[in-house]
Amino acid sequence: MNSFPNLPKSLGGPKSAAALLPLPGIGEVPEVDQPEIGPKLVGFESKDARSRPFNLLRAQLIKKLAETNGRLMGITSPAPNAGKSFVASNLAASMSQLSNKRTILIDLDLRRATIARIFGLEGPEGLTEYLLGDEIALPQIGRRIGDSSLVVYPTFPAPVNSAELMVGDRLHELVARARALDDDAIVIFDLPPVFANDDAMLVAEQLDGILLVVEQGVTTKKQLQSSIQLLHPTPILGTIFNRFTGGAGDPYGYGGKYDGYYSS
Ligand SMILES: Nc1ncnc2c1ncn2[C@@H]1O[C@H](COP(=O)(O)OP(=O)(O)OP(=O)(O)O)[C@@H](O)[C@H]1O
Ligand SMILES: [Mg+2]
Repeated sequence: MNSFPNLPKSLGGPKSAAALLPLPGIGEVPEVDQPEIGPKLVGFESKDARSRPFNLLRAQLIKKLAETNGRLMGITSPAPNAGKSFVASNLAASMSQLSNKRTILIDLDLRRATIARIFGLEGPEGLTEYLLGDEIALPQIGRRIGDSSLVVYPTFPAPVNSAELMVGDRLHELVARARALDDDAIVIFDLPPVFANDDAMLVAEQLDGILLVVEQGVTTKKQLQSSIQLLHPTPILGTIFNRFTGGAGDPYGYGGKYDGYYSS
């Protein structure tokens, strides 16, 4: 899908975005070899070079969230297929490695849920059934991944009116429970794209901040600006450049350190 077919050229990288937008580019993720699923996701493997982009993102985000006293963050993008679920899963895995920091990953992309597949989780009961008000309590849905401190709340495909569920009592209860977790816990919500339907906006209203995944060479400036307007007033924590090919030009100045990684 491209909602804006005739738009100005797409964003080339964090520097061009920073020049155009009042938004911090808080990191980038290059094309990573397809990670293994489940407890072997690269984000869990701090010694694996492929986990480095996620570890850098993790540090930036923890800092950003601390600045606002926030703990509930959503991940979305203007259009589909930007890598939201991929980034959300690896970032959640990476965060959970920090002195076993309690991390929760919630799949709220009810129509195109993929988190269960990424972590190798099987149904049938997931968040859709919980949001529909079936006789299911949240603890029945949450799954700890291996022996990590990451708990995933998966969604399994089912035909539903997702927008209705996004404004229902059950979603409010889910968010309230996430807020009630201890101070250290971080909760990541994988959301649908902003332009797909109302869902991302309806959930974003209830969260502390949003991470926007920007696909290098694909997402346009106009798409990004429209998304920011639609998500207002939820704070945008920053943008992540996915499938980034800038390599050594990373804004942290750590390029040399990762030369081996980028060239491998
Ligand atoms: N940096 C990356 N390196 C390697 N593969 C990636 C990367 N980013 C995304 N992918 C792959 O691209 C595909 C699409 O990514 P993903 O499902 O995360 O996108 P999405 O934005 O969540 O899509 P949707 O809008 O359908 O929810 C997946 O197969 C994912 O594994
Ligand atoms: Mg997704």
